[in-house]
Amino acid sequence: MRGRIPDSFIDDLLARVDIVDVIERRVPLKKAGREWTACCPFHNERTPSFYVSPTKQFFHCFGCGAHGSAIKFLMDYDRLEFPDAVEELAQSVGLKVPHEGGRDNAPREDKTDLYSLLDAAAHWYEGELPRSAEAQAYCKKRGLDAETIARFRIGWAPAGYDGVMKALGANEPRRMQLLNEAGMVASNERGSKYDRFRERLMFPILDRRGRVIAFGGRVLSSEQSPKYLNSPETPLFHKGRELFALWQVKQANASLSRIVVVEGYMDVIAMHQAGLPIAVATLGTATTPEHTEVLFRAAPDVVFCFDGDRAGRAAAWKALESALPRLRDGRQAYFLFLPDGEDPDTLIRKEGKSGFEQRLKNATPLSEYFFGELSHDVDTGSLDGRARLAERARPLIAKLPDGAFRDLMAQELEKRTGARAVLEPDAAARRPAQRPVAVQRSLVRSAIALLLAQPGMAEQVERPYRFLRLDKPGIDLLAELIDMARSRPGINPAMLVEHYAERPEYPALQKLMAATVVGEPAIQRIEFFDALQRMEQQAITQRRDMLTAKSREGTLDSAEKAELRELLAARVQPPVASS
Ligand code: UTP
Ligand code: MN
Repeated sequence: MRGRIPDSFIDDLLARVDIVDVIERRVPLKKAGREWTACCPFHNERTPSFYVSPTKQFFHCFGCGAHGSAIKFLMDYDRLEFPDAVEELAQSVGLKVPHEGGRDNAPREDKTDLYSLLDAAAHWYEGELPRSAEAQAYCKKRGLDAETIARFRIGWAPAGYDGVMKALGANEPRRMQLLNEAGMVASNERGSKYDRFRERLMFPILDRRGRVIAFGGRVLSSEQSPKYLNSPETPLFHKGRELFALWQVKQANASLSRIVVVEGYMDVIAMHQAGLPIAVATLGTATTPEHTEVLFRAAPDVVFCFDGDRAGRAAAWKALESALPRLRDGRQAYFLFLPDGEDPDTLIRKEGKSGFEQRLKNATPLSEYFFGELSHDVDTGSLDGRARLAERARPLIAKLPDGAFRDLMAQELEKRTGARAVLEPDAAARRPAQRPVAVQRSLVRSAIALLLAQPGMAEQVERPYRFLRLDKPGIDLLAELIDMARSRPGINPAMLVEHYAERPEYPALQKLMAATVVGEPAIQRIEFFDALQRMEQQAITQRRDMLTAKSREGTLDSAEKAELRELLAARVQPPVASS
């Protein structure tokens, strides 16, 4: 089991990498004096307030307050846990990450064993493929060439109930437990375990670092069902976040201007084989907002490709809704609907690479699809019809981030209906102090809730904690949570709350965590630091009032007198006299 990464290695690593390189590879930077600058990748903005300093090897956003080292940037941007961000950076400069300690102090969330187990499983399935005549014949029928089979690590899960279990040493209890955790075994009502995947063509699902995290398996004959079986959700695999073949896309393209989302495994594979290694697929789920963010980070143009049938249309609209909040300037979404009965796999075989490229070129821009879809059953010649269109479009346009694209969409709505898009929701969201949620809950409770949403913020809280002087319930808990989050960089909200599983605060913490599930991270960040500052202010007021009362009774000692004098002098006068 992997041990702790020594601090000295982190120091070496940060000395070796250049933060400008690291960020530049993900966000185009412009030189501005001694620094580099860009529109902040962590919040929506029109003018750049994100700065990267080569001398300090630090990034900082004056808009949302995001800041940190190259490791922190990778954690935030690529959404990596601390050890993975370190691993990724080390790889980029040819260093190997040492681990000290080993078993004893290995963190509970260490997943190394799971990764290597899944890799071994993929390897075993790959080895089984040449041994099965029917699997070979099927690959041939589907037109898969040897290079594609190797590139996607396609394999074969043979018949039998314990092939994978035997091959991976399930007679050892620890291995069996890992197989279970990795989603490789299923069990019947009587509790006996067997291989989840049997007699299926196996497609390993890789994460964005190329590690196997799950599988999809297809039956060979149409009589069996389900046609595709996917791994269940596991500690490594979250369907709503992963995209099939994203790793292969990144391997094949140093920089990408366009990425295409298709519906199936075979569609992706056919496109890669045909010379269009720009296709990914969601894994039997609708496109989530998280998918959309990952897609736009991979390329500025995203083409959503769907069947032309009703299910395809519905799925496309879902994708549109998840794309809206992510469409800041510079990002564009397109929709491509395929003729009835075709999918990218069949089409590219008929029309070849250039035929499919032509279709991609002619894909419908989001704006056109948006207004077309919303007005298809309204009569824009009538006042009622135009009112209905405006009613439908407004809340959706309001979801777009502030920027030129939103302005254009609002203009287009006005042109089509004569009605203005009222964009209040987002405008209100940009004034954090006025949001009702922050005032309804007590300051301490909302600070805790916001911290639970982004434990990484703990790192930026200045020490000593000046808010500690505030005498309110929950203050000590807040300080404890900040310390806890601080001591475990990369800890996620769920893990943080799990530390309290045995404590009476547990249910309350879970509730508070749920309260911040929705909300823009950048705004929550501002609210958090705002809450801390207000608590600090309240602590000062509390102390001053207490000392003032004591002073009226004439019971102040000399130290207290000095403190009161200082507090009164430091008192910030409100800009407008209120009495
Ligand atoms: P399709 O049935 O359209 O598959 O499902 P396909 O890719 O065209 O498959 P082939 O060409 O018949 O091999 C599209 C996607 O939906 C998910 C899979 O991710 C599949 O690739 N799916 C489909 C499942 O998860 N389970 C199923 O039973 C069917
Ligand atoms: Mn198909």
